[in-house]
Amino acid sequence: MAKRLFIKTYGCQMNVYDSARMADVLAPLGYLPVDEADAADMVILNTCHIREKATEKVFSELGRMRSLKEAKTGAGGKMILAVAGCVAQAEGAEILRRAPYVDIIFGPQAYHRLPELVARATRAGGGVLETGFSTEPKFDSLPEMAAPQGVSALLTVQEGCDKFCTFCVVPYTRGAEYSRPVAEVVDEARRMVDAGSREITLLGQNVNAYHDPGPGGKGEWGLGRLIRALSEIDGLERIRYTTSHPRDMDDDLIAAHREVEALMPFLHLPVQSGSDRVLAAMNRRHTADEYRRIVERLRRARSDIAFSTDFIVGYPGESERDFADTMALAQEAGFAQAYSFKYSPRPGTPAATESGQIPQAAKERRLAELQTLLNDQQIAFNRSCVGRRLAVLLDGEGRDSGQLVGRSPYMQPVHVKVPRRRRGVIAGTVQDLEIVEAHPNGLSGILAASAPVASADGPSERACA
Ligand code: SAH
Ligand code: SF4
Ligand code: F3S
Repeated sequence: MAKRLFIKTYGCQMNVYDSARMADVLAPLGYLPVDEADAADMVILNTCHIREKATEKVFSELGRMRSLKEAKTGAGGKMILAVAGCVAQAEGAEILRRAPYVDIIFGPQAYHRLPELVARATRAGGGVLETGFSTEPKFDSLPEMAAPQGVSALLTVQEGCDKFCTFCVVPYTRGAEYSRPVAEVVDEARRMVDAGSREITLLGQNVNAYHDPGPGGKGEWGLGRLIRALSEIDGLERIRYTTSHPRDMDDDLIAAHREVEALMPFLHLPVQSGSDRVLAAMNRRHTADEYRRIVERLRRARSDIAFSTDFIVGYPGESERDFADTMALAQEAGFAQAYSFKYSPRPGTPAATESGQIPQAAKERRLAELQTLLNDQQIAFNRSCVGRRLAVLLDGEGRDSGQLVGRSPYMQPVHVKVPRRRRGVIAGTVQDLEIVEAHPNGLSGILAASAPVASADGPSERACA
Protein backbone atom coordinates (compact mmCIF):
# COMPACT_ATOMS: atom_id res chain seq x y z
CA MET A 1 0.00 0.00 0.00
CA ALA A 2 1.22 3.53 -0.82
CA LYS A 3 2.69 5.50 2.05
CA ARG A 4 1.53 9.08 2.46
CA LEU A 5 4.13 11.82 2.14
CA PHE A 6 3.37 15.41 3.17
CA ILE A 7 5.92 18.10 2.35
CA LYS A 8 5.47 21.67 3.55
CA THR A 9 7.63 24.17 1.74
CA TYR A 10 8.83 27.54 3.02
CA GLY A 11 11.09 30.14 1.43
CA CYS A 12 12.27 30.55 -2.12
CA GLN A 13 11.42 28.83 -5.38
CA MET A 14 14.50 26.65 -5.06
CA ASN A 15 12.91 25.09 -2.01
CA VAL A 16 9.80 24.44 -4.14
CA TYR A 17 11.98 22.69 -6.72
CA ASP A 18 13.81 20.75 -3.99
CA SER A 19 10.55 19.59 -2.41
CA ALA A 20 9.41 18.20 -5.76
CA ARG A 21 12.74 16.40 -6.13
CA MET A 22 12.44 14.96 -2.59
CA ALA A 23 9.11 13.46 -3.61
CA ASP A 24 10.80 12.02 -6.74
CA VAL A 25 13.54 10.46 -4.61
CA LEU A 26 11.02 8.91 -2.22
CA ALA A 27 8.61 7.64 -4.91
CA PRO A 28 10.49 4.34 -5.46
CA LEU A 29 10.08 3.64 -1.72
CA GLY A 30 6.31 3.79 -2.16
CA TYR A 31 5.70 7.33 -0.89
CA LEU A 32 2.98 9.30 -2.64
CA PRO A 33 2.50 13.05 -2.03
CA VAL A 34 -0.65 14.10 -0.15
CA ASP A 35 -2.03 17.55 0.72
CA GLU A 36 -2.61 17.05 4.45
CA ALA A 37 -0.22 16.26 7.28
CA ASP A 38 -2.92 14.41 9.25
CA ALA A 39 -2.27 10.69 9.15
CA ALA A 40 0.74 11.08 6.85
CA ASP A 41 3.44 8.39 7.13
CA MET A 42 6.16 10.92 6.56
CA VAL A 43 6.18 14.70 7.00
CA ILE A 44 8.98 16.91 5.71
CA LEU A 45 9.21 20.59 6.59
CA ASN A 46 11.43 22.16 3.93
CA THR A 47 12.54 25.29 5.70
CA CYS A 48 13.88 28.80 5.11
CA HIS A 49 16.38 30.63 7.31
CA ILE A 50 16.55 33.96 5.49
CA ARG A 51 14.87 36.12 8.16
CA GLU A 52 14.08 35.56 11.81
CA LYS A 53 10.35 35.25 11.23
CA ALA A 54 10.86 32.47 8.70
CA THR A 55 12.80 30.44 11.26
CA GLU A 56 10.31 30.98 14.07
CA LYS A 57 7.49 29.75 11.84
CA VAL A 58 9.27 26.42 11.55
CA PHE A 59 9.55 25.91 15.29
CA SER A 60 5.87 26.68 15.82
CA GLU A 61 4.88 24.31 12.99
CA LEU A 62 7.03 21.60 14.59
CA GLY A 63 4.86 21.83 17.71
CA ARG A 64 1.76 21.11 15.61
CA MET A 65 3.47 18.21 13.85
CA ARG A 66 4.43 16.74 17.20
CA SER A 67 0.71 16.43 18.13
CA LEU A 68 -0.05 14.76 14.80
CA LYS A 69 2.84 12.36 15.26
CA GLU A 70 1.69 11.47 18.78
CA ALA A 71 -1.88 10.95 17.55
CA LYS A 72 -0.59 8.60 14.85
CA THR A 73 1.56 6.66 17.32
CA GLY A 74 -1.42 6.52 19.74
CA ALA A 75 -3.46 4.90 16.99
CA GLY A 76 -0.77 2.23 16.51
CA GLY A 77 0.81 3.89 13.46
CA LYS A 78 4.08 5.62 12.78
CA MET A 79 5.03 9.00 11.36
CA ILE A 80 8.54 9.94 10.30
CA LEU A 81 9.06 13.66 10.94
CA ALA A 82 11.87 15.35 9.03
CA VAL A 83 13.22 18.88 8.79
CA ALA A 84 14.96 19.83 5.56
CA GLY A 85 16.25 23.01 3.96
CA CYS A 86 18.15 26.00 5.23
CA VAL A 87 17.06 25.98 8.91
CA ALA A 88 18.05 22.31 9.07
CA GLN A 89 21.45 23.20 7.62
CA ALA A 90 22.07 26.18 9.89
CA GLU A 91 20.46 25.01 13.11
CA GLY A 92 20.38 21.22 12.92
CA ALA A 93 21.79 20.68 16.40
CA GLU A 94 19.43 23.29 17.86
CA ILE A 95 16.43 21.53 16.29
CA LEU A 96 17.51 18.23 17.83
CA ARG A 97 17.77 19.96 21.20
CA ARG A 98 14.48 21.90 21.01
CA ALA A 99 12.50 19.22 19.18
CA PRO A 100 13.98 15.80 20.01
CA TYR A 101 10.91 14.12 18.50
CA VAL A 102 12.19 15.03 15.00
CA ASP A 103 13.49 11.90 13.27
CA ILE A 104 15.63 13.27 10.44
CA ILE A 105 17.35 16.61 9.90
CA PHE A 106 19.04 17.15 6.56
CA GLY A 107 20.38 20.11 4.59
CA PRO A 108 19.80 21.15 0.96
CA GLN A 109 22.87 19.19 -0.18
CA ALA A 110 21.76 15.86 1.29
CA TYR A 111 18.25 15.18 0.04
CA HIS A 112 19.36 12.83 -2.73
CA ARG A 113 20.30 10.48 0.14
CA LEU A 114 16.79 10.41 1.63
CA PRO A 115 16.23 6.65 1.19
CA GLU A 116 19.36 5.94 3.24
CA LEU A 117 18.39 8.57 5.85
CA VAL A 118 14.92 7.05 6.20
CA ALA A 119 16.46 3.59 6.67
CA ARG A 120 18.90 4.93 9.27
CA ALA A 121 16.15 6.75 11.18
CA THR A 122 13.98 3.64 11.15
CA ARG A 123 16.83 1.51 12.53
CA ALA A 124 17.93 4.05 15.14
CA GLY A 125 14.44 5.22 16.12
CA GLY A 126 15.12 8.82 15.02
CA GLY A 127 17.71 11.50 15.68
CA VAL A 128 19.51 11.39 12.30
CA LEU A 129 21.40 14.60 11.49
CA GLU A 130 22.84 15.03 7.97
CA THR A 131 24.12 18.53 7.33
CA GLY A 132 27.56 17.96 5.83
CA PHE A 133 28.26 19.32 2.36
CA SER A 134 28.74 16.00 0.61
CA THR A 135 31.39 15.69 -2.05
CA GLU A 136 29.30 13.58 -4.40
CA PRO A 137 27.27 15.89 -6.65
CA LYS A 138 23.63 15.83 -5.60
CA PHE A 139 22.27 16.30 -9.10
CA ASP A 140 24.10 13.22 -10.43
CA SER A 141 22.25 11.05 -7.92
CA LEU A 142 18.77 12.44 -8.42
CA PRO A 143 16.41 10.24 -10.43
CA GLU A 144 15.73 11.26 -14.04
CA MET A 145 12.10 10.39 -13.47
CA ALA A 146 10.31 13.44 -12.13
CA ALA A 147 6.63 13.99 -11.48
CA PRO A 148 5.28 16.49 -14.05
CA GLN A 149 5.19 20.02 -12.64
CA GLY A 150 2.44 21.34 -14.89
CA VAL A 151 2.55 24.04 -17.57
CA SER A 152 4.90 26.22 -15.57
CA ALA A 153 7.96 24.42 -14.22
CA LEU A 154 10.99 25.26 -12.09
CA LEU A 155 14.45 24.02 -13.01
CA THR A 156 17.53 24.54 -10.81
CA VAL A 157 20.56 25.28 -12.98
CA GLN A 158 22.83 26.83 -10.37
CA GLU A 159 23.02 26.55 -6.63
CA GLY A 160 24.94 28.18 -3.80
CA CYS A 161 26.59 31.54 -3.45
CA ASP A 162 30.12 32.91 -3.17
CA LYS A 163 29.11 36.54 -2.78
CA PHE A 164 28.86 36.71 1.01
CA CYS A 165 26.69 39.78 1.38
CA THR A 166 27.15 40.64 5.04
CA PHE A 167 23.47 40.21 5.98
CA CYS A 168 22.79 36.90 4.28
CA VAL A 169 22.78 33.27 5.42
CA VAL A 170 22.60 31.71 1.97
CA PRO A 171 26.35 31.12 1.42
CA TYR A 172 26.36 29.18 4.70
CA THR A 173 23.18 27.18 4.12
CA ARG A 174 23.53 26.41 0.41
CA GLY A 175 27.30 26.25 0.15
CA ALA A 176 29.61 27.30 -2.68
CA GLU A 177 28.43 28.21 -6.17
CA TYR A 178 27.83 25.25 -8.42
CA SER A 179 26.50 25.19 -11.99
CA ARG A 180 24.91 22.09 -13.49
CA PRO A 181 26.34 20.94 -16.83
CA VAL A 182 24.63 22.31 -19.94
CA ALA A 183 23.69 18.88 -21.29
CA GLU A 184 22.05 17.88 -18.01
CA VAL A 185 20.02 21.10 -17.89
CA VAL A 186 18.91 20.81 -21.53
CA ASP A 187 17.89 17.16 -21.03
CA GLU A 188 15.88 18.00 -17.93
CA ALA A 189 14.20 20.92 -19.74
CA ARG A 190 13.30 18.61 -22.67
CA ARG A 191 11.75 16.10 -20.30
CA MET A 192 9.73 18.90 -18.69
CA VAL A 193 8.42 20.07 -22.06
CA ASP A 194 7.63 16.46 -23.07
CA ALA A 195 5.64 16.19 -19.83
CA GLY A 196 3.59 19.27 -20.77
CA SER A 197 5.47 22.28 -19.42
CA ARG A 198 5.32 25.40 -21.60
CA GLU A 199 7.23 27.77 -19.33
CA ILE A 200 10.44 27.06 -17.45
CA THR A 201 11.91 29.28 -14.76
CA LEU A 202 15.63 28.69 -14.37
CA LEU A 203 16.63 28.85 -10.72
CA GLY A 204 19.78 29.67 -8.84
CA GLN A 205 20.71 31.65 -5.76
CA ASN A 206 22.79 33.63 -8.25
CA VAL A 207 21.40 32.21 -11.42
CA ASN A 208 23.23 34.65 -13.69
CA ALA A 209 26.56 33.48 -12.25
CA TYR A 210 25.85 30.27 -14.19
CA HIS A 211 28.95 29.03 -16.01
CA ASP A 212 29.92 25.74 -17.55
CA PRO A 213 32.47 24.55 -20.12
CA GLY A 214 29.59 22.92 -22.04
CA PRO A 215 29.52 19.70 -24.06
CA GLY A 216 33.10 18.65 -24.91
CA GLY A 217 34.41 20.61 -21.95
CA LYS A 218 36.09 23.36 -23.99
CA GLY A 219 33.53 26.14 -24.33
CA GLU A 220 32.33 28.94 -22.15
CA TRP A 221 28.67 28.89 -21.36
CA GLY A 222 27.06 31.64 -19.36
CA LEU A 223 23.37 32.00 -18.67
CA GLY A 224 22.72 33.89 -21.93
CA ARG A 225 24.09 31.04 -24.02
CA LEU A 226 22.19 28.47 -21.96
CA ILE A 227 18.95 30.41 -22.53
CA ARG A 228 19.59 30.49 -26.29
CA ALA A 229 20.08 26.69 -26.29
CA LEU A 230 16.89 26.16 -24.29
CA SER A 231 14.93 28.44 -26.62
CA GLU A 232 15.58 25.86 -29.39
CA ILE A 233 13.41 23.30 -27.59
CA ASP A 234 10.18 22.85 -29.54
CA GLY A 235 7.15 23.57 -27.39
CA LEU A 236 8.99 25.67 -24.80
CA GLU A 237 7.22 29.01 -25.13
CA ARG A 238 8.51 30.95 -22.15
CA ILE A 239 11.78 31.18 -20.29
CA ARG A 240 12.44 33.09 -17.06
CA TYR A 241 15.30 33.08 -14.59
CA THR A 242 15.70 34.08 -10.97
CA THR A 243 17.48 35.32 -8.83
CA SER A 244 20.12 37.46 -10.43
CA HIS A 245 22.91 39.54 -8.96
CA PRO A 246 23.61 42.90 -10.63
CA ARG A 247 27.31 42.10 -10.84
CA ASP A 248 26.72 39.04 -12.99
CA MET A 249 24.48 40.76 -15.55
CA ASP A 250 26.91 40.32 -18.47
CA ASP A 251 26.70 41.60 -22.06
CA ASP A 252 25.67 38.27 -23.51
CA LEU A 253 22.78 37.88 -21.07
CA ILE A 254 21.61 41.42 -21.82
CA ALA A 255 21.84 40.63 -25.55
CA ALA A 256 19.75 37.49 -24.98
CA HIS A 257 16.95 39.75 -23.77
CA ARG A 258 17.05 41.46 -27.16
CA GLU A 259 17.35 38.30 -29.23
CA VAL A 260 15.41 35.51 -27.56
CA GLU A 261 11.70 35.92 -28.03
CA ALA A 262 10.83 33.26 -25.46
CA LEU A 263 12.75 35.09 -22.76
CA MET A 264 10.09 37.00 -20.85
CA PRO A 265 10.50 40.78 -20.56
CA PHE A 266 10.51 40.74 -16.77
CA LEU A 267 13.51 40.61 -14.49
CA HIS A 268 13.84 40.26 -10.75
CA LEU A 269 17.06 42.11 -9.96
CA PRO A 270 17.61 42.74 -6.25
CA VAL A 271 19.24 46.07 -5.41
CA GLN A 272 18.88 46.04 -1.57
CA SER A 273 19.71 49.73 -1.11
CA GLY A 274 20.08 52.98 -3.06
CA SER A 275 22.95 54.22 -0.89
CA ASP A 276 26.53 53.54 -2.00
CA ARG A 277 27.67 53.63 1.61
CA VAL A 278 25.18 50.93 2.61
CA LEU A 279 25.83 48.89 -0.55
CA ALA A 280 29.55 48.90 0.27
CA ALA A 281 28.89 47.94 3.90
CA MET A 282 26.68 45.10 2.64
CA ASN A 283 29.52 43.88 0.40
CA ARG A 284 27.22 44.04 -2.63
CA ARG A 285 30.14 45.15 -4.80
CA HIS A 286 28.18 47.52 -7.01
CA THR A 287 27.03 51.12 -6.66
CA ALA A 288 23.57 52.57 -7.06
CA ASP A 289 24.59 54.16 -10.38
CA GLU A 290 25.94 50.86 -11.67
CA TYR A 291 22.55 49.36 -10.92
CA ARG A 292 20.81 52.23 -12.74
CA ARG A 293 23.05 51.68 -15.77
CA ILE A 294 22.24 47.95 -15.89
CA VAL A 295 18.53 48.76 -15.84
CA GLU A 296 19.05 51.29 -18.64
CA ARG A 297 21.01 48.82 -20.77
CA LEU A 298 18.32 46.18 -20.34
CA ARG A 299 15.66 48.71 -21.30
CA ARG A 300 17.62 49.55 -24.43
CA ALA A 301 17.93 45.85 -25.26
CA ARG A 302 14.25 45.21 -24.72
CA SER A 303 12.05 48.28 -24.51
CA ASP A 304 9.10 46.43 -22.96
CA ILE A 305 11.06 44.97 -20.04
CA ALA A 306 9.77 45.54 -16.50
CA PHE A 307 11.66 45.11 -13.25
CA SER A 308 11.14 43.69 -9.84
CA THR A 309 13.57 43.99 -6.94
CA ASP A 310 14.35 43.38 -3.27
CA PHE A 311 15.12 46.09 -0.72
CA ILE A 312 16.37 45.89 2.85
CA VAL A 313 15.73 48.87 5.12
CA GLY A 314 17.39 49.51 8.48
CA TYR A 315 20.70 47.84 7.71
CA PRO A 316 23.16 48.63 10.56
CA GLY A 317 24.35 52.23 10.25
CA GLU A 318 21.70 53.21 7.66
CA SER A 319 21.14 56.94 8.13
CA GLU A 320 18.10 58.99 7.11
CA ARG A 321 20.18 60.18 4.19
CA ASP A 322 21.01 56.64 3.12
CA PHE A 323 17.33 55.80 3.30
CA ALA A 324 16.51 58.89 1.20
CA ASP A 325 18.91 57.50 -1.44
CA THR A 326 16.95 54.25 -1.42
CA MET A 327 13.68 56.13 -1.90
CA ALA A 328 15.26 58.10 -4.75
CA LEU A 329 16.47 54.98 -6.52
CA ALA A 330 13.06 53.32 -6.19
CA GLN A 331 11.39 56.47 -7.48
CA GLU A 332 13.64 56.65 -10.54
CA ALA A 333 13.76 52.98 -11.45
CA GLY A 334 9.97 52.55 -11.33
CA PHE A 335 9.48 48.92 -10.31
CA ALA A 336 6.55 46.88 -11.57
CA GLN A 337 6.78 44.82 -8.41
CA ALA A 338 9.09 44.63 -5.39
CA TYR A 339 9.78 42.92 -2.09
CA SER A 340 11.03 44.95 0.83
CA PHE A 341 12.18 43.80 4.22
CA LYS A 342 13.31 45.13 7.55
CA TYR A 343 16.90 44.11 8.16
CA SER A 344 16.86 40.96 10.29
CA PRO A 345 20.11 40.06 12.09
CA ARG A 346 21.02 36.46 11.27
CA PRO A 347 23.25 34.38 13.52
CA GLY A 348 26.72 33.84 12.09
CA THR A 349 26.57 36.69 9.54
CA PRO A 350 28.95 39.67 9.88
CA ALA A 351 26.21 42.33 9.91
CA ALA A 352 24.52 40.78 12.94
CA THR A 353 27.32 41.88 15.23
CA GLU A 354 27.94 45.28 13.65
CA SER A 355 27.44 48.36 15.76
CA GLY A 356 24.77 50.84 14.71
CA GLN A 357 21.83 48.43 14.71
CA ILE A 358 18.73 50.45 13.83
CA PRO A 359 15.86 50.60 16.34
CA GLN A 360 12.77 48.60 15.38
CA ALA A 361 10.55 51.69 15.22
CA ALA A 362 12.81 53.40 12.68
CA LYS A 363 12.96 50.22 10.58
CA GLU A 364 9.18 50.04 10.60
CA ARG A 365 8.74 53.67 9.62
CA ARG A 366 11.20 53.36 6.73
CA LEU A 367 9.63 50.13 5.54
CA ALA A 368 6.16 51.67 5.58
CA GLU A 369 7.38 54.69 3.62
CA LEU A 370 9.15 52.56 1.02
CA GLN A 371 6.25 50.14 0.71
CA THR A 372 3.81 52.99 0.10
CA LEU A 373 5.93 54.09 -2.85
CA LEU A 374 6.42 50.55 -4.16
CA ASN A 375 2.70 49.75 -3.88
CA ASP A 376 1.86 52.94 -5.77
CA GLN A 377 4.32 51.96 -8.47
CA GLN A 378 2.83 48.47 -8.72
CA ILE A 379 -0.69 49.86 -9.01
CA ALA A 380 0.44 52.39 -11.62
CA PHE A 381 2.12 49.63 -13.59
CA ASN A 382 -0.98 47.43 -13.42
CA ARG A 383 -3.17 50.36 -14.52
CA SER A 384 -0.89 51.07 -17.45
CA CYS A 385 -1.71 47.57 -18.74
CA VAL A 386 -5.43 48.31 -19.08
CA GLY A 387 -6.44 48.54 -22.72
CA ARG A 388 -3.44 46.53 -23.83
CA ARG A 389 -3.25 43.04 -25.17
CA LEU A 390 -1.05 40.70 -23.13
CA ALA A 391 -0.06 37.09 -23.73
CA VAL A 392 -1.13 35.11 -20.67
CA LEU A 393 -0.19 31.52 -19.84
CA LEU A 394 -3.40 30.18 -18.31
CA ASP A 395 -2.27 27.71 -15.69
CA GLY A 396 -5.00 27.53 -13.07
CA GLU A 397 -8.63 27.84 -12.00
CA GLY A 398 -9.72 31.36 -11.08
CA ARG A 399 -11.36 32.58 -7.86
CA ASP A 400 -14.87 32.28 -9.29
CA SER A 401 -16.26 29.37 -11.18
CA GLY A 402 -15.98 29.94 -14.88
CA GLN A 403 -12.68 31.75 -14.50
CA LEU A 404 -9.19 30.74 -15.46
CA VAL A 405 -6.10 32.48 -14.13
CA GLY A 406 -2.65 32.80 -15.60
CA ARG A 407 0.46 34.94 -15.65
CA SER A 408 1.18 37.88 -17.92
CA PRO A 409 4.73 38.29 -19.27
CA TYR A 410 5.25 40.49 -16.18
CA MET A 411 4.16 37.80 -13.72
CA GLN A 412 0.89 39.58 -12.92
CA PRO A 413 -1.93 37.14 -12.19
CA VAL A 414 -4.62 37.69 -14.83
CA HIS A 415 -8.18 36.42 -14.35
CA VAL A 416 -10.39 35.73 -17.35
CA LYS A 417 -13.90 34.37 -17.79
CA VAL A 418 -13.98 31.47 -20.22
CA PRO A 419 -17.11 29.72 -21.48
CA ARG A 420 -17.27 26.18 -20.10
CA ARG A 421 -17.03 24.56 -23.52
CA ARG A 422 -13.75 26.34 -24.26
CA ARG A 423 -12.15 25.95 -20.85
CA GLY A 424 -10.58 22.53 -21.42
CA VAL A 425 -9.07 23.62 -24.72
CA ILE A 426 -7.64 26.87 -23.44
CA ALA A 427 -6.35 25.81 -20.02
CA GLY A 428 -2.60 25.35 -20.12
CA THR A 429 -2.06 27.48 -23.22
CA VAL A 430 -0.83 31.01 -23.88
CA GLN A 431 -3.72 33.27 -24.93
CA ASP A 432 -3.85 36.88 -25.97
CA LEU A 433 -6.02 38.71 -23.45
CA GLU A 434 -7.45 42.18 -23.68
CA ILE A 435 -6.77 43.73 -20.27
CA VAL A 436 -9.94 45.40 -19.01
CA GLU A 437 -9.28 46.01 -15.32
CA ALA A 438 -6.34 46.54 -12.98
CA HIS A 439 -6.28 45.50 -9.32
CA PRO A 440 -3.57 46.12 -6.74
CA ASN A 441 -2.20 42.61 -7.23
CA GLY A 442 -3.29 41.62 -10.69
CA LEU A 443 -5.42 42.15 -13.75
CA SER A 444 -8.65 41.02 -15.37
CA GLY A 445 -8.86 40.31 -19.05
CA ILE A 446 -11.10 38.98 -21.75
CA LEU A 447 -10.11 36.62 -24.50
CA ALA A 448 -8.86 38.82 -27.32
CA ALA A 449 -10.93 36.87 -29.83
CA SER A 450 -14.06 37.80 -27.88
CA ALA A 451 -12.97 41.37 -27.18
CA PRO A 452 -15.50 43.97 -28.30
CA VAL A 453 -12.83 46.21 -29.80
CA ALA A 454 -9.49 44.89 -30.95
CA SER A 455 -6.50 46.66 -29.48
CA ALA A 456 -4.83 49.09 -31.80
CA ASP A 457 -1.66 48.83 -29.77
CA GLY A 458 0.01 46.18 -31.82
CA PRO A 459 1.81 43.08 -30.69
CA SER A 460 1.07 41.33 -27.45
CA GLU A 461 4.61 41.84 -26.16
CA ARG A 462 4.18 45.59 -26.00
CA ALA A 463 5.19 47.01 -22.64
CA CYS A 464 2.63 48.16 -20.14
CA ALA A 465 4.61 50.99 -18.69
N1 SAH B 1 20.36 35.78 -4.14
C1 SAH B 1 19.53 36.89 -4.10
C2 SAH B 1 18.56 36.95 -2.94
C3 SAH B 1 18.63 35.99 -1.82
S1 SAH B 1 17.61 36.17 -0.41
C4 SAH B 1 20.37 38.15 -4.20
O1 SAH B 1 21.53 38.12 -4.38
O2 SAH B 1 19.86 39.24 -4.08
C5 SAH B 1 16.18 37.06 -0.91
C6 SAH B 1 16.10 38.43 -0.30
O3 SAH B 1 15.94 38.37 1.09
C7 SAH B 1 17.34 39.27 -0.50
O4 SAH B 1 17.38 39.85 -1.76
C8 SAH B 1 17.22 40.28 0.59
O5 SAH B 1 16.50 41.43 0.18
C9 SAH B 1 16.42 39.56 1.66
N2 SAH B 1 17.26 39.25 2.82
C10 SAH B 1 18.31 38.40 2.88
N3 SAH B 1 18.85 38.40 4.10
C11 SAH B 1 18.14 39.29 4.84
C12 SAH B 1 18.24 39.75 6.17
N4 SAH B 1 19.17 39.32 7.00
N5 SAH B 1 17.31 40.66 6.60
C13 SAH B 1 16.36 41.12 5.76
N6 SAH B 1 16.23 40.73 4.49
C14 SAH B 1 17.12 39.82 4.03
FE1 SF4 C 1 22.70 36.24 -0.23
FE2 SF4 C 1 24.15 38.09 -1.40
FE3 SF4 C 1 24.43 35.55 -2.11
FE4 SF4 C 1 22.21 36.88 -2.74
S1 SF4 C 1 24.29 37.33 -3.48
S2 SF4 C 1 22.34 34.82 -1.91
S3 SF4 C 1 21.92 38.21 -0.98
S4 SF4 C 1 24.96 36.42 -0.14
FE1 F3S D 1 15.39 30.66 2.40
FE2 F3S D 1 17.36 29.01 1.91
FE3 F3S D 1 15.89 29.93 -0.08
S1 F3S D 1 17.35 30.60 3.43
S2 F3S D 1 15.35 31.94 0.65
S3 F3S D 1 15.19 28.62 1.55
S4 F3S D 1 18.09 29.56 -0.11
